[in-house]
Amino acid sequence: MKKRLRILGTGSHVPERRVPNSEFAKTLDTSDEWIRERTGIEERRLSSDQEPTSVFAIEAAKKALDAAKIKPEDVDLILAATTTPDMLFPSLACLVQEGTGAKKAFAFDVSAACAGFLYGLQVAHTQAQAGAVRTVLLVGADTLGKYCDFTDRGTCILFGDGAGAAVLRSEEGERGILGAKLYSDGTLWRHLYIANSGSVSPNPRDTQGKRTNFIKMEGREVFRYAVRGMTESCKAVMDECGVAAQDVRWLIAHQANSRILDSTAEKLAFPKERVYQNLQKYGNTSAASIPLALDECSREGKLAPGDLILFTAFGAGFAWGSALVRW
Ligand code: ACO
Repeated sequence: MKKRLRILGTGSHVPERRVPNSEFAKTLDTSDEWIRERTGIEERRLSSDQEPTSVFAIEAAKKALDAAKIKPEDVDLILAATTTPDMLFPSLACLVQEGTGAKKAFAFDVSAACAGFLYGLQVAHTQAQAGAVRTVLLVGADTLGKYCDFTDRGTCILFGDGAGAAVLRSEEGERGILGAKLYSDGTLWRHLYIANSGSVSPNPRDTQGKRTNFIKMEGREVFRYAVRGMTESCKAVMDECGVAAQDVRWLIAHQANSRILDSTAEKLAFPKERVYQNLQKYGNTSAASIPLALDECSREGKLAPGDLILFTAFGAGFAWGSALVRW
């Protein structure tokens, strides 16, 4: 019988600090009403300067290992999807290895911004299919709140911090990853990037000494490409797997904006009640958003064995894709 990489357990962890929309209205020309209407976001969690990404990644990973009933020593591969690691090196995945005690694994990061968890899922899938690994700990973690310019109302209201994780194991049977389709278009990176955040500017300060390493985004362009990319990649993976929208229990899309989710679902003829949404509580948590949504969906008892889940994401790069998983 064919082996598939099956999700055995999930976990998530977010900062304590809740920041409601009303907080932004105190210093910016914005309002709770505008943010809710245009994005669906009501509040987000933001980390403190003393809380690097690893704090959330390690906790989410531990919860996923517990839920999966897998001992850390049994993990063969740790993948951390992130664009906000604690340091340029070592990788976040190595810090998760130290924090969980998964000492027999090899560990590395996957950088595909908001699509990172899907890219990680595909790497895990192909590694398992090649027979290189059996058990994978996949973490999606980001703290983009640390790269928000809180004077830019067009971006700072969107992002939140947190982490989600999944433990996957290669097993015989019908459950697990059925297929994935990934895409990138590097010619479009200028629509969404973190300015002065790497080797182009090792000391990101302006002449007055103010930080300049902040998110820059052309929101409308990102919106347009996101809907198109997610819709087309969902169709491609469903076609490849011979699955129709009505066969899928949940569409779990990257939690960027409720209007992006609505538009994508409409184009795919997906009824709203099968589109999972928790962005109202967390904002856009980048690589963490899909595993955070999956963990909540599962813990709320909304998933039964055999349910089909369609994941899709779009983010900076641009990088995007979709995957079909049987729970
Ligand atoms: N409060 C009040 N007004 C605002 C705010 C705000 N927070 N932000 C922008 N505006 C203003 C603009 O300045 C503009 O004013 P103007 O008409 O006087 O110039 C007006 O609102 C309309 O601006 P638009 O950018 O056209 O507004 P839009 O409806 O497109 O909403 C938003 C902006 C929410 C950023 C939207 O474009 C969006 O969500 N885009 C997708 C971006 C995204 O999700 N990025 C995350 C990373 S990528 C990903 O995860 C898919």
